[in-house]
Amino acid sequence: MGKDVIIACDFPGKEQTFAFLDKFTGKKPFVKIGMELFYAEGPQIVREIKNRGHRIFLDLKLHDIPNTVKKAMAVLSSLDVDICNLHAAGTAAMMEAALEGLTRPDGSRPLLIAVTQLTSTDQERMENELLIKEPIDRVVMHYALNAKKAGLDGVVCSPLEAGKVHEVCGQSFLTVTPGIRFSDSSAGDQKRITTPARAKEIGSDYIVVGRPVTAAEDPVEAYEKCLADFVG
Ligand code: C5P
Repeated sequence: MGKDVIIACDFPGKEQTFAFLDKFTGKKPFVKIGMELFYAEGPQIVREIKNRGHRIFLDLKLHDIPNTVKKAMAVLSSLDVDICNLHAAGTAAMMEAALEGLTRPDGSRPLLIAVTQLTSTDQERMENELLIKEPIDRVVMHYALNAKKAGLDGVVCSPLEAGKVHEVCGQSFLTVTPGIRFSDSSAGDQKRITTPARAKEIGSDYIVVGRPVTAAEDPVEAYEKCLADFVG
């Protein structure tokens, strides 16, 4: 898989999602299905979007005891998605169990990546609320190494951290990075952000873009600008 832009389809239901996807008459974008849409529509929405020819990152961020995550991943493995994820904070035992659950009887499986620290979390909140006193980039690198040691394929992190994750975990370890904003768009609840062009320079493999595309006046134009800036 090469560099690509993944659109976060954070919509409340299938009508809004298909109305949005119908606008894309050229290249079928790689899409991210998150909790909102999945909980509203269930697994059928994944099958329908796949049938329309999109690659899918199923962003359900699992975080529970190893046995529960293993069984949940076994259920998700029957959906033909390209990438699944979980929270690295669930520990190496949970990540290893997740990989086992996700692997199909024929040995194939979707890519599995770990959320390090959410891009909405900053140093202050991490220290004061989570009581993690280390610098946030050290925490991200440590969680990324844990994910790599557990056999995962990459991490979700801030685009600002992608270069360092590659230094620590290797160039082929995937960095999937939300927290993308055009220089003129509002940050919203995101904290550790940058532009598509800067994310490319730093070395993200995939950028995940939600509101800058979904809430744009012309979403196709905004998506194409992301592609031009990030993929070139
Ligand atoms: O609208 P926006 O561009 O902020 O959307 C970013 C998307 O990436 C959201 O769907 C959010 O859930 C997701 N995400 C994130 N930070 C992570 C993991 C996923 O923002 N660490």
